Amino acid sequence: MEITIYLSLVFLTLYVIGLIIRRIIFLRARRRMREESRWGGRIIARADEVEPGSVKKFWLICQKYRVDGFLINDAGNFYAYVNRCRHMTTPLDFVRDQFFSEDRRYLMCYTHGALYEPATGFCIAGPCKGESLYRLPVQVDRGDILVGCPEGDLSFLAE
Ligand code: FES
Repeated sequence: MEITIYLSLVFLTLYVIGLIIRRIIFLRARRRMREESRWGGRIIARADEVEPGSVKKFWLICQKYRVDGFLINDAGNFYAYVNRCRHMTTPLDFVRDQFFSEDRRYLMCYTHGALYEPATGFCIAGPCKGESLYRLPVQVDRGDILVGCPEGDLSFLAE
């Protein structure tokens, strides 16, 4: 009996410590995001650093959520999306650390092969056909690429 109570207290203590560490990490990230932001967006890269066909991963703090995203340069136009497939909640690059299909025409989720249009995030093939990636607003200011948070209810990020 005593050992059960003892183990319960140990697990409870570890759980609370984990929560505190997670909160500290979140608050530090939120402060960093504020320092690296202007016009409502975080500075992700210099525009000339992200060449056509390339991808840059980043994170944002949006409301109470950490958002993992990726920025692409599609023929000179910049687009950013939440790095989460619409089929399941896995990142597109979960398996191979790649975002594009082999012919480089589409964004691809390597878990089950869904294809998305780079400019719209619309899924044209695979198990999420007809859905769209969650888009993040992008602006270029003085040569910096800024990515902002999506507006409205972000509770889908908690799923
Ligand atoms: S998780 Fe992306 S296609 Fe299934």
